[in-house]
Amino acid sequence: MRSADVVNAPPQTVRVRIPAGAANALCQVGPIRSGMVSAEVEVRGRRVEIQTSDEGPVLFPTDVGLTLLSALNADPGLLVSGARALDVGCGSGLYTVALAMAGAAHVTALDVNPACADVTRENATRNGIRPAQVATIVGDLAELAVVEPWDLVVCNPPHFPHDPIYAADDGIEAALVGGSDGRALYDVLLARLDELLAPGGTLLLTHSSLTDISRTRRTLQRNGYECRTVQVCELDIPLRRYAAHRDVLLSRLYPLRAAERAAFRGLRFEVHTLAATRIDSQDGSGE
Ligand SMILES: C[S@@+](CC[C@H](N)C(=O)[O-])C[C@H]1O[C@@H](n2cnc3c(N)ncnc32)[C@H](O)[C@@H]1O
Repeated sequence: MRSADVVNAPPQTVRVRIPAGAANALCQVGPIRSGMVSAEVEVRGRRVEIQTSDEGPVLFPTDVGLTLLSALNADPGLLVSGARALDVGCGSGLYTVALAMAGAAHVTALDVNPACADVTRENATRNGIRPAQVATIVGDLAELAVVEPWDLVVCNPPHFPHDPIYAADDGIEAALVGGSDGRALYDVLLARLDELLAPGGTLLLTHSSLTDISRTRRTLQRNGYECRTVQVCELDIPLRRYAAHRDVLLSRLYPLRAAERAAFRGLRFEVHTLAATRIDSQDGSGE
């Protein structure tokens, strides 16, 4: 093999397995103090601390979401330093804070849940991030006005299918449930990706195997994106929030699995960290 082949070889996909029954395996969870709970995680050599209120309207970092940060640690080739980044569905600000600490020039944190903006700003301050390095926007990605596209877009979309039995009009529903097939935010993101990403920019996506990874890859390919799987993590389907409605949720997932639109075995599923980059033509026209 010539040395150029080695340099151009795609990086190996990293495989991670979180054992059955292990929760919060990818961070250190602190004790609940004054109704607040904290998660600590190391990202590219920097310690990130995220707090949310226990049982509040903003999702506490989950192992699903944290896989994106472990992928960033596993692949130094994923460029963050100096990037202008968009965090779609910022939640607690987990990715916003991690990217800012890993050297992003600026991060825009977007969430449809209004409580996320305050929590994200608080977590940014907690980690010593300059206020000018982060902007928060409350709103739906479908309606986001794009003034200047971003170098890096990160997202950990909701991935459970909706059912009226466990539907709730609150922040946690918005964080976990994504329409009839769980894909609501994935589909908006894919539809708007050309507008969101600057030429040569990258989407880094936490993709649940409950939401048809093949469909996303096909769409990206059709739209001219090169897509690689940075990391695959096998773990338990996080059903705790829906413990009382577990069987209803599974009954929504079984037909999706039968139609090959969801993949899981028993209560185990996978989260793939996908990195998609637009392949632009040499004249820069994108055609
Ligand atoms: C699974 S949570 C991820 C939160 C955080 N990024 C993390 O990984 O911990 C998904 C987030 O997306 C937000 N969200 C859902 N649909 C959205 C939409 N259409 N536009 C903007 N944000 C949305 C939810 O409110 C929620 O905070």
